[in-house]
Amino acid sequence: MPDTGMPEHVAIVMDGNGRWAEQRRRSRSWGHQAGLKALRRTARHGTEIGIRILTVFAFSSENWNRPAIEVSRLMDLFMSALEKEVKGLHENGVKVRFIGDLSGFKPELQDRILAAQELTAGNTRSQLNVAANYGGRWDIVNAARTLAEQVRAGELDPADIDEGRFSAGLALPDTPDPDLFIRTGGEMRISNFLLWQSAYTEFYFSDVLWPDFDGDELDRAVEAYRRRERRYGMTGKQVRDRAHA
Ligand code: IPE
Ligand code: IPE
Ligand code: MG
Repeated sequence: MPDTGMPEHVAIVMDGNGRWAEQRRRSRSWGHQAGLKALRRTARHGTEIGIRILTVFAFSSENWNRPAIEVSRLMDLFMSALEKEVKGLHENGVKVRFIGDLSGFKPELQDRILAAQELTAGNTRSQLNVAANYGGRWDIVNAARTLAEQVRAGELDPADIDEGRFSAGLALPDTPDPDLFIRTGGEMRISNFLLWQSAYTEFYFSDVLWPDFDGDELDRAVEAYRRRERRYGMTGKQVRDRAHA
C-alpha cells in the first residue's frame, strides 16, 4: 500500500451551505453562517495535523449571479468574519492571503482584506488562502496579460515564455500546487477553482454538506489521499522503485 505522506497544500470547495439550510427550512444565508463555523474548525484541525497550506473557495466570480439578497448577506458575512476571525488566526500563527479580483468588492471590504494580509504577513506556522471573487480562468487570463505587458515593454522575449514564467503571474506564485482538492456537497466538478494549479492534484469528493464538515471528515480525506499513488505520467513501478531508492 503506498503512503503518499501528508498533503502539504489542501484546496477545498466548500459547497452545500444553501442545501444544508434549506433542509432545515432556514435561509441560505444562515447556511453560509454555519459554513463559516465549519471553516473555523477545519482550519484549526488542519493546522493541528500539519497541513501547512489551506486554500478555500469562498466566493467564485460566478457567484455574483446569485439573488442580490444572498450576495449582499455574503458580503456582510465576509465583513464580520474579517473583523472577528483575524485576531485568532494571527494568534495561532496563520498567514492569511486572499486570491481573486478584489477590485470587485466595496472599498471597506478591500480595506479589511488588506489589513488582514498585512497583520498576518509575517506568520509562518500555516497559511490560509481565501479565494474570493476568484475564477480559474480569470487567474490564467491575468497571468497572460502580465506576460503580454512584459513583452510590450521589451522586457521579455515570447520565446522565453515557459510554464515557470507563466505560473509566476498566477495567484499563489510562491506556493506549491495543491496536493489534495476536496469538494463537499456531492457535486463532482471544479466550478472554475484552481484550474492551472490542480493539473496533478488528487481529487476527493464528499457528499457531506459543508456546514457538517469537521476534523474527522478532513482526516478521512487525508487518509484517502495517503493511499493514492501519484504517478505524474510515470509507471507505478517507476514510482515505487524511486520511493525505495
Ligand atoms: C457554497 O455553498 C458557498 C458559496 C458558494 C458561497 P452553496 O451556497 O453553493 O450551497 P448549495 O450548493 O446551494 O447547497
Ligand atoms: C463553487 O460552488 C464556489 C464556492 C464554493 C465558493 P458553487 O455552488 O458556486 O458551484 P456550482 O454553481 O454548483 O458549480
Ligand atoms: Mg453550491
